[in-house]
Amino acid sequence: MTSIKSRPFGQTRAGKNVECYTISAPSGLTAEILTYGGVLRALYVPTPEGPRDVVLGFDTLSEYEGQDKYIGAIVGRVCNRIANARFSLDGKAYSLAANSGPNCLHGGIHGFHEKVWTASVAGEKLVLSLNSPDGEEGFPGTLQVQAAYSLSNDSLSLAYAAVTDRSTPVSFTNHSYFNLCGQGSGTVEEHRVRVAADFILENGETGCPTGVLLDVSDTPFDLRTSKPLKQGLMSSHAQIRQGNGYDHNFVLKKTCDSTLVSAAEVEAGGLRMEVLTTQPGMQLYTANYLDGLRGKGYTVYPARTALCLETQGWPDAVNQVGFPGCVLRPEETYEQMTIYRFLH
Ligand code: BGC
Repeated sequence: MTSIKSRPFGQTRAGKNVECYTISAPSGLTAEILTYGGVLRALYVPTPEGPRDVVLGFDTLSEYEGQDKYIGAIVGRVCNRIANARFSLDGKAYSLAANSGPNCLHGGIHGFHEKVWTASVAGEKLVLSLNSPDGEEGFPGTLQVQAAYSLSNDSLSLAYAAVTDRSTPVSFTNHSYFNLCGQGSGTVEEHRVRVAADFILENGETGCPTGVLLDVSDTPFDLRTSKPLKQGLMSSHAQIRQGNGYDHNFVLKKTCDSTLVSAAEVEAGGLRMEVLTTQPGMQLYTANYLDGLRGKGYTVYPARTALCLETQGWPDAVNQVGFPGCVLRPEETYEQMTIYRFLH
């Protein structure tokens, strides 16, 4: 039986109580989830040497509130970038906060990553719910969001659902920073990574897609067979140099549908993790902008000490003709699922 327990995790600066839920599977796989930002605070994977925590995080709530790296959090209402912080929908123009150069990044200034979600336990699942009001961060429509976390002996699954009362762009991701050798154990340059993508979305100067699909053949983005990250990180490819490492959306499929695909596999320190998702894209981000934050248990997190595998809709889809659609209509339900599976 999976067990789910909770404990208090302090109060936000605004005085809201936050809980930390611990979900444990009989195998010992254990996840800690905060009601603050839906943060995956810890993920302990059983190893012959004992449980190993493979995600970055913090010991206190004030450290979560005091950083801007989205560590472990659910990101929304629209993750990644919206070009020039604006879009038009059904003939109406919307203006958002430009919080990353000229672009709107990760849902705006006060995105889902810093909201306190409402928790409920449904059988063996932890369900976090959030009501995002009409006009929040400039987006139209009241959006009701649910994120359900569940564990099996070898996997953590994260299933999202959302409904709206007005059409709105929607794209959620989880922004966990993984290090399979253990959080705080140094660079991930030796991690071997496979990504099932024939194309990436080419980035323009400000990190938004240009609209061009770049064939990965003969580039550092060809991870169709597993390679150590350092090979690509050392490359002089203009896209790598511009992003200061990997910070690119890999094309997993060209449509939005509910088929689960094996998007990626990461191997390091004797562990192998597969990422499965229904999403059409995955941002591979090699934590290029971590800057030495102090993490759990007095660890430090300099650049490249983790990697993010952010399954999501294609960035800036709301402005790009030909990208898989990201607009949720009132008669529809947004659903997506991502699974992190540990293989032996
Ligand atoms: C983005 C990076 C950004 C980071 C913030 C990633 O998803 O692609 O450009 O710096 O999030 O933590």
